[in-house]
Amino acid sequence: MVKTLKKLLDILSDGEFHSGEQLGKVLNITRSAIWKNIRQLSDFNLIIEAIPNKGYRLKDNLQLLQSDKILSCLESDLKNRFAHFEILDTVSSTNDYLLNTLSQSPKENKICFAERQSHGKGRQGRVWVSPFAKNICLSLLWQFPKDPSTLSGLSLAIAVSIIETLNALGFDKNLGIKWPNDILFNHQKLAGILIEQRGEAHNHCSAVIGVGLNVNMPDTNHYDIAKPWTDLQRLTDKPIDRNQLAGNLLNNLIKTLLIYQEKGLSAFMKKWQQFDLTHCQPVNILTATTQFSGIGRGISPEGYFLLENSLGVIQRFSSGDVSLQLSN
Ligand code: BTN
Repeated sequence: MVKTLKKLLDILSDGEFHSGEQLGKVLNITRSAIWKNIRQLSDFNLIIEAIPNKGYRLKDNLQLLQSDKILSCLESDLKNRFAHFEILDTVSSTNDYLLNTLSQSPKENKICFAERQSHGKGRQGRVWVSPFAKNICLSLLWQFPKDPSTLSGLSLAIAVSIIETLNALGFDKNLGIKWPNDILFNHQKLAGILIEQRGEAHNHCSAVIGVGLNVNMPDTNHYDIAKPWTDLQRLTDKPIDRNQLAGNLLNNLIKTLLIYQEKGLSAFMKKWQQFDLTHCQPVNILTATTQFSGIGRGISPEGYFLLENSLGVIQRFSSGDVSLQLSN
């Protein structure tokens, strides 16, 4: 987003009316340039009211992410655990953005939020939809002094961390995890995790941990999302402070990465089991080639899904799409 547009958005984010004249003075541009900028904001799916003699006003409440507010939520000993922190207005995908930096400075931890992703990626080639300034799109590039194979359970630990963050902020205690890391409320998706590993070598690997959390999705069919979804605002009557949420989440994710680095999935096993939505439930798991059915039996120490088939044999899956069998 160009600077003038960003400044205009900052001014309008207070939800008050601002006259074209006043905006023109502050931004040092003509009134017709203001109008052009206002029109550009519709590319971000923002609706601006224009009322004669009053001016312009953002129709919906807008809370932009702010570095100082997010960073103030971090415990002091976590603040020096990363070399870069950025909030982007718009990017294709925060995961891709950080992956692309790997060739320049491969050994650093980096954090990046975005207000909007034009090509947000979900697991298994799916698209992740996130309108401007509504949700949380966050990626962390992390360096692990570990063999790449040790990261097989990382996304499960991250899922635990997200639920614990939300519970601590007072959100519904009925949030659960569908293996490996879908965070659901009432069978509807609230958050997802996409981990991408690079630079695989003995005793070192880099991973980008991408987290998408639905906070305040507009109530519209405009967004083409295949599976049922929900957002945090639908779980509470109180307004949500996106900066506080982002800061608390980041704090806990960093802590989780440090614990995982030292102890692996075992440190999160009990909690994951507590949140497991498919435990002892009839489920299907769809792999690249075949669908399997059986009863969910939790996870292995590596984080693989365990399915008990009709013969009572436990099968292990390192990937696949799990769904609960619907009862008639
Ligand atoms: C899924 O459940 O399918 C995973 C969704 C992951 C979405 C996040 S949003 C931030 C990061 N950037 C991306 O392009 N994807 C992840």
